[in-house]
Amino acid sequence: MDKLSILGNGPLEGRIPISGAKNSALKLQAASLLCEEPLVLTSMPNLADTRFMADLLRNLGVEVEWPKGEALCRMHAANITSTIAPYDLVRKMRATFNVLGPLLARVGHATVSLPGGCAIGARPVDLHLKAFEAMGADIVIEEGYVKAAALRGLRGAHINFPFVSVGATEHAMLAAVLAHGETILENAAAEPEISDLANCLNACGAKITGHGTSTIRIQGVAKLTGARHDVIADRIEAGTFAIAAAAAGGNVFLEGARAEDLGALIDALRRAGVTVEVESKGLRIKRNGGGLVAVDVDTRPHPGFPTDLQAQFMALMSIAEGTSTIRENIFENRFMHAPELSRLGANITVRGNEAIVKGVPKLKGAPVMATDLRASVSLVIAALVAEGETTVNRIYHLDRGFERLEEKLGRCGAKITRSGDSARSSGR
Ligand code: EPZ
Repeated sequence: MDKLSILGNGPLEGRIPISGAKNSALKLQAASLLCEEPLVLTSMPNLADTRFMADLLRNLGVEVEWPKGEALCRMHAANITSTIAPYDLVRKMRATFNVLGPLLARVGHATVSLPGGCAIGARPVDLHLKAFEAMGADIVIEEGYVKAAALRGLRGAHINFPFVSVGATEHAMLAAVLAHGETILENAAAEPEISDLANCLNACGAKITGHGTSTIRIQGVAKLTGARHDVIADRIEAGTFAIAAAAAGGNVFLEGARAEDLGALIDALRRAGVTVEVESKGLRIKRNGGGLVAVDVDTRPHPGFPTDLQAQFMALMSIAEGTSTIRENIFENRFMHAPELSRLGANITVRGNEAIVKGVPKLKGAPVMATDLRASVSLVIAALVAEGETTVNRIYHLDRGFERLEEKLGRCGAKITRSGDSARSSGR
């Protein structure tokens, strides 16, 4: 199994290109099932998760052309040959569940394994299924599988989500684009990835308005064509590198990062004493000499502070002056990085959904274990500022969501090396 060795090594200086967003790309890939003509995605992030989704699409009959290492992926769902997504494929990555809605809308039926829980919480899919039922689908859950059918097609519905769910909003949109009539989604998520999906679907002939607000309207159309669409820049990757630069100090330009998607983080970084400059082609993060001060954050749906940056921000707060309270409001079990950060010398007490972080003057390198994607990268950030060497084990989590992490940080001066099977086979 691969691991990363990181030597705490002073400020970061340079430029980091931001990749396409994983959490957008995965839903855009699922959208290809709706399109009768090719959907071409550019700025596709080469990640374990997006490659895995491509394999699932191939299994369903989609022709996928995506040469290794390339950022252009062409998908053509001329003939869908299977409507079954088996347990082994859905278990490994929850986002594969998102093929259910497009299959139901395009073919009229689908059998997709329930995704089950994961390390950060139970993560049910009840809101997704209620949305499909409201659109007229018959849903049966049998032996761990969702069997959904709408043989005469889905029909538009008025859906008011009881709370904000990114996945349910996207999934309902993916189904409603081919439904008969209008669908209105209320209390919808407004994450930038939702707008990216809506823009791509509209380019394929869908009629979606209101995306980016809490009410989305979708006028169903008879069919979708194809399009060429550039995947939005990954705000979580950008935010992660912004926090890394804030922690290590220095001057880093995040090329392609979109300030409009990162308002809550930019505000928190500025309050912590970090300089964030919005430039036409990205964001510049600077901290030269000045200390960091503790800031409280509460995770919330967009435009609130993103749960996917909570672990990274906790790493930053562990070296800030003062005490920070970090509240996690989206997932019930998303503090697994806290004990690992404590192994590096952080002073963190977890009480329910609150973590109290008392800043310490310095962290010290130690072996630590990655538990999920964002937790893993919080350990990398802490390691960049810790004295001595840190080894981060089980980094397959990192490879699910960060493209060329060691290379991007390494070019800014970080001393970070990978060892293990994939490092040997790829020669990296
Ligand atoms: C997406 O997950 C992201 N994943 C997550 O990123 C992200 O943390 C999350 O949105 C919130 O921003 C992908 O896009 C692939 P939700 P999703 O539905 O859609 C509960 C990462 O690290 N809920 O907004 O699954 C749910 O359990 C990942 O990249 C229900 O109860 O998140 C959670 O507590 C992790 N029933 C809350 O809602 C439902 O039917 C919000 O989840 C659906 C959700």
